Amino acid sequence: MRSVAQLADSLGGLTGKRVLVRSDLNVPLDGETITDDGRIRASVSTIEDLRARGAKVIVMAHLGRPKGEPEDRYSLAPAGRRLGELLGCEVVLASDTVGEAATAAVEAMDDGDVVLLENVRFNPGETSKDDAERGGFADRLAALGDAFVSDGFGVVHRKQASVYDVAQRLPNAAGGLVLDEIEVLRRLTEDPDRPYAVVLGGSKVSDKLGVIDSLLTKADTLLVGGGMVFTFLKAQGHEVGSSLLEEDQLDAVRGYLRQAEEAGVQIVLPSDVVVAAELKADSAATVVAAQEMPADQIGLDIGPDSSRHFAEVLGGAHTVFWNGPMGVFEIAAFAAGTKAVAQALTEIDGLSVVGGGDSAAAVRKLGFDDDQFGHISTGGGASLEYLEGKTLPGIDVLTP
Ligand code: 3PG
Repeated sequence: MRSVAQLADSLGGLTGKRVLVRSDLNVPLDGETITDDGRIRASVSTIEDLRARGAKVIVMAHLGRPKGEPEDRYSLAPAGRRLGELLGCEVVLASDTVGEAATAAVEAMDDGDVVLLENVRFNPGETSKDDAERGGFADRLAALGDAFVSDGFGVVHRKQASVYDVAQRLPNAAGGLVLDEIEVLRRLTEDPDRPYAVVLGGSKVSDKLGVIDSLLTKADTLLVGGGMVFTFLKAQGHEVGSSLLEEDQLDAVRGYLRQAEEAGVQIVLPSDVVVAAELKADSAATVVAAQEMPADQIGLDIGPDSSRHFAEVLGGAHTVFWNGPMGVFEIAAFAAGTKAVAQALTEIDGLSVVGGGDSAAAVRKLGFDDDQFGHISTGGGASLEYLEGKTLPGIDVLTP
């Protein structure tokens, strides 16, 4: 992959060039309020670099999963405002993607200006499985620019027009964010500093099958929490009350437990669990042994003994990858396990990586600063797919 500097060299500089940048501005919103601006902050540096080089910067991004037509609640307006604040310059939001508004906004640009196209998923061509339909949209996007920079790491696992097809149509490079993310993830898969511990949580085992498969042969220890742990506890023969359970994954999990034993990989499950009768902020929460969960209770966090033990195990690791909260961290009574794991990651003597999505939102909501961790990935699905060893279309398509 070429860097922005290499792209600039190959084009005789970027001054006055229209550079399309694919960023990932897919941030959580509460109405129009952004509740975690991490992805927008992570997008700033490449855009600043391009502005400093005198480029006209045209940002393409998505928000949520609209169905190929405009919907107010998926507008990029709040993200555009925040981006403007962070850049300290005006970000002009074009009210369409490749229509009259986008064309006029791009035509009016001076060097160093920034235009944000409206949500690319408002156009059905963006996510179409039909190459010709996607290509048609990509043609119109590509016509707005002279070069393309891929900087939306969170979407590089998607074969979509603004991620993949545009790169086929323009001189291209990877932005600094994509290069940084790939470098950190490479360190997790190729020769990590040992001991190497992986912490997995979140609600579903079925979302993590690929990554468990891949990391079981690479990590020394796998610690499991979150909703997915109840399928592990059940697979070991324990009752899990009314907790989340994926019956159809029990065989897969039994297979992992066997595979880990054979490979000498330690799987650490919680010894105690915080339970409540209902998933409500005011439900009475109690701590029970993981092997003795009452039938009418739901497991909603790992318990205090488990938190201590998880932190102890992590304390001895030199490389840690963490994906998925340990409990329902949004509710204070069920946040302690996630907080304990986050705290332990801040104290690692080595590389600590928080993998995207919920885990990134969790550490920020729980009051941690980004710089307390080695790396907070902006990609949820994208980082997992990289670690699974899958080909990421948005990376694969870039000029080597
Ligand atoms: C994400 O939220 O992981 C990325 O922005 C990709 O979004 P998507 O899963 O809707 O493609």
